Amino acid sequence: MSLLIKNGKLVLPSHIVEADLLIKNGKINRIDSCIEISNIPILDAKGAYVLPAGIDPHVHLLLSTANGLSADDFETGSKAALAGGTTTIIDFITPTKGQHLLEAYQQRLSEVKNCYCDFAFHMSIIEWRESIPEEMEACIKEFGITSFKTYLAYQKTIGISFVTLEKVMIAAKNLNAMVTIHSEMGDLIDKLREEAIGLNQIDLNFHPKTRPDYTEYQAVDKIIELVRKTNCKTYIVHVSTAESLNKIKQAQKEYLPIFAESCPQYFTFNESVYTKIRNEALGFMMSPPLRSEENRKGIENAIIQGTVSTLGTDHCPFTLNQKQKAKNFAEVPNGAGGVQHRLSLFYSRFVHTKKLLTTDMAKLTSSNPAQFFRLPQKGEIKVDYDADLIIWKEQSITIKDQLLYSQSDIDIYANEQIKGKVDIVIKAGEIVYQNGKLEDTLPLGHYLYRK
Ligand code: URP
Ligand code: ZN
Repeated sequence: MSLLIKNGKLVLPSHIVEADLLIKNGKINRIDSCIEISNIPILDAKGAYVLPAGIDPHVHLLLSTANGLSADDFETGSKAALAGGTTTIIDFITPTKGQHLLEAYQQRLSEVKNCYCDFAFHMSIIEWRESIPEEMEACIKEFGITSFKTYLAYQKTIGISFVTLEKVMIAAKNLNAMVTIHSEMGDLIDKLREEAIGLNQIDLNFHPKTRPDYTEYQAVDKIIELVRKTNCKTYIVHVSTAESLNKIKQAQKEYLPIFAESCPQYFTFNESVYTKIRNEALGFMMSPPLRSEENRKGIENAIIQGTVSTLGTDHCPFTLNQKQKAKNFAEVPNGAGGVQHRLSLFYSRFVHTKKLLTTDMAKLTSSNPAQFFRLPQKGEIKVDYDADLIIWKEQSITIKDQLLYSQSDIDIYANEQIKGKVDIVIKAGEIVYQNGKLEDTLPLGHYLYRK
C-alpha cells in the first residue's frame, strides 16, 4: 500500500523542510522536494506540519490494583492514544513476588487484546534474588525488553529499597540497559500517611500533604548518588517538583547518564485541585500528587530549558465509581488518564505560545522516547523508518468537545482549552484517524522487540 503526502512541513530532528513524502509498504520510502507518481492516493498537507507520531513511554493499561483494574484496557487505551496522535505506547510488566520475569512477561502478553498501537513493555523489578541479573539478561535477549522499572514508593507492595536499587543498577549497567525509577521516599510517605490516618485526617487534601515535595527530591538525591557510583543509564519517571529537576540538571552538567520524564498533569495543574468538591478532586488523586504553583512553573521552565527529555502521560484512569468507594484518601486508586491529550497539551502550552519549537515537540513526544527505549525505526521522519506520522492542525477547542476514546468517565483535562490537535494520524502507512474520529477498522499494533 502506498500513500503520497504532498507539500507538508516535515518536522525533522534539527529543522523543518517543506517537501513531499512517499510511503510504501508501511515505511517512509522517499522524501523529496517534488515527487510525482500517478495512481496512488495523495494527501495534500499544504501548510500543515507533518510530525513523527507520538510515542508515550509511560502508560498503565489494564493495571491490576487493590481497587481493581485501571479503566482502559489495551483496546480503549490504544484507541485513545491513536486519536491523540500517539501510535506507540510503552506499558509495564509487574511480576508477582517470586515470579520469574519471563513468566511475568508471558502472562502480561496474554492480557494484550486488540491493541491498535505498537507496544513494548518496561519490566518491573519488585524484589531482589540472585537470579535477577540472568533474568534481566533473558528479558533483553529473548523479548527485547531493554528497560527495567523500579518503584521507591509503594514499599508495602512493589517498592524496593535503595540497596536493591543499587543492585538492579549494577546489573543493568552490565547489560547496557536503562533503569527507570518512580522517585518517592516510600517509607517516609507510609509514616506520614499512617500518622495522618491515626489523627483521622482522611480527606483528599491529605494526599498531597503526606507526599510533600521533599519526598520526591530526597529520593532524587539518593538516586544521583547511585548513578555516580554505578554509571547506570537512569530515567526518572513523572518528575513533579522544581527541586528534583534542579538536582537532575546539576547531575546532567556532570555528564551523569540521568534523564527526566515529566507528564502534562505537572505543568497543567497545581495542588489547588484538591480543594475542589470531592467528586472532582478524586480525579486528581495520583502519585506523585499535583504540587504548588511554584513547582508547576518550575516543571514548565525545566521543559523549556531542556532538563526534561521526554513527555509521558502515566495514563492510568479509573472510573468515578472505583474512586468513590475509598473511605479515606489512602484508599483512592491512584492515577488519571491523558494519553489522548498529551500532544495537544504540549503544543498548546509550549509551541503555540512560542516557548518551544515544533522540532522540540517531536523530540520530547517521539524521538527521545524512541532513542532512550531503543524502539527500532521509530520517532523520526527518515527513509526506511516506520510511516507513523501525524498531520497537525492549529485549532482552538475544548478537550471535552472532541470525540474521546478512554473508557473512564473521568477526564481531568475535560475543560482545558487546546490550541492544536491532530488532523490526520497515519500508522504504518495507513490513515487511522481523520475528520475527528478513528476509522471503523484499524490494523492491529505489533509487539516491539527492542535491541
Ligand atoms: O498515580 C499513579 N501514578 N498511578 C499509576 C501508577 C504509578 O505509580 O505510576
Ligand atoms: Zn506510572
